[in-house]
Amino acid sequence: MSVTNVRSRPGGYSAELDQAERASRDEIIALQTTRLAATLARAYDKVAHYKNAFDKAGVHPGDFRQLSDLNHFPFTVKTDLRDNYPFNMFAEPREKLVRIHASSGTTGKPIVVGYTRADIEMWSDVMARSLRAAGGRTGMIIHNAYGYGLFTGGLGVHYGAERLGCTVVPISGGMTERQVQLINDFKPDIITVTPSYMLAILDEFKRQGLDPRKSSLKIGIFGAEPWTNAMRTEIEQSFDMDATDIYGLSEVVGPGVAQECIETKDGLHIWEDHFYPEIIDPESGAVLPDGEKGELVFTSLTKEAFPVIRYRTRDLTRLLPGTARPGMRRMEKVTGRSDDMIILRGVNVFPTQIEEVLLATEWCGGHFVVELTREGRMDVMTVLAEARPERWDGRGLLEHTELLTTHIKNTTGIHARIKAVPPNSLERSLGKAKRVFDKRPKG
Ligand code: DLL
Repeated sequence: MSVTNVRSRPGGYSAELDQAERASRDEIIALQTTRLAATLARAYDKVAHYKNAFDKAGVHPGDFRQLSDLNHFPFTVKTDLRDNYPFNMFAEPREKLVRIHASSGTTGKPIVVGYTRADIEMWSDVMARSLRAAGGRTGMIIHNAYGYGLFTGGLGVHYGAERLGCTVVPISGGMTERQVQLINDFKPDIITVTPSYMLAILDEFKRQGLDPRKSSLKIGIFGAEPWTNAMRTEIEQSFDMDATDIYGLSEVVGPGVAQECIETKDGLHIWEDHFYPEIIDPESGAVLPDGEKGELVFTSLTKEAFPVIRYRTRDLTRLLPGTARPGMRRMEKVTGRSDDMIILRGVNVFPTQIEEVLLATEWCGGHFVVELTREGRMDVMTVLAEARPERWDGRGLLEHTELLTTHIKNTTGIHARIKAVPPNSLERSLGKAKRVFDKRPKG
């Protein structure tokens, strides 16, 4: 992958790294082995669910000698967490927890996660490390537009920013006009926000007649949803900034599980001293070698309140060797979750594939949704793609959309109807974007 748009920075990228970031691969493996043994024992002794699951699988923490032995231990899935709602997965008495977060949970009960004081310290450390890897430095101002509340984005970034010694503006999501006003007035160096909401902020800059390239923002740290390198280029060029990817999930800790380094922008380094990754075949559950694409699975190595053993994230990616931090592996940008995959007449497609194609056109700036409907017995996919204001012809850009339909057909095998819609006609997300609207009759 080529390095896009790395800006020269006085002082370069150097900053003091954590000891683990300087460790060799062998040192990391030794640390993981010790920490995994302790985590398995803790989970077995303190969480009834893990004791039952290990017993049922006929494994005991004492069977674990080396990393490859993890293979014998059972996976944990979302329903395990839901079945133990709200507090039964905790390995510490509730009184020892200093914080609770919960997933938004579109259906049914949310997933509840908890943190001891030591867990919050660890999370602040990995988040501070992530901000630093993205180019953040002590003394910078961070405009934090991730949502505050039960969602881990806002508070997770907040504590890491304070740990790094930054000045945090805890604006949270929404009130886009005010976001732009405060960016202009406070002159932050860094913005942390979902990539889709960053596009809404970009629109607002333009609406107010402001040149986003002249804003103070130099660094954007985007995550919580899949986004493409095409989107990176769009945002970097629009704001004249460096954009890097941050990954995490509530069940594992929140943001700060993995972060892309500004000097390479080649996928996200997983902070492997705290989180042990595996890639599995989503169908068979078999562990796949590094380099092969599959479902990402995490085991926490240092968490007290909410240890997770082989948690299936449903995110699809692959593991690659470390570059900017040679001791820790990278994960490729997550292209999608197995849940977001659209299956249309037997062909699989992810919204990120559509995003890439749309951003390769001159006329679409990246706002889009996908609608699935049924006509007769035929499933139909319609992409509603918003035109850039300066490109909108008032009619529907027909010659462009027809070209794109042919292009998508040729590259993915899918026949998609592309409908160009007027600027500002699609609803903006304030956090994670909802891309797919399945309007097909159920059953
Ligand atoms: O989204 C934590 C987070 C906050 C990460 C802010 C980054 C920045 P959840 O709400 O539990 O936690 O959602 C986790 O979001 O399993 C992925 O499917 C998706 N996701 C998170 N980061 C990325 C990313 C937060 N960089 C779920 N690229 C995960 C693609 C991402 N998908």
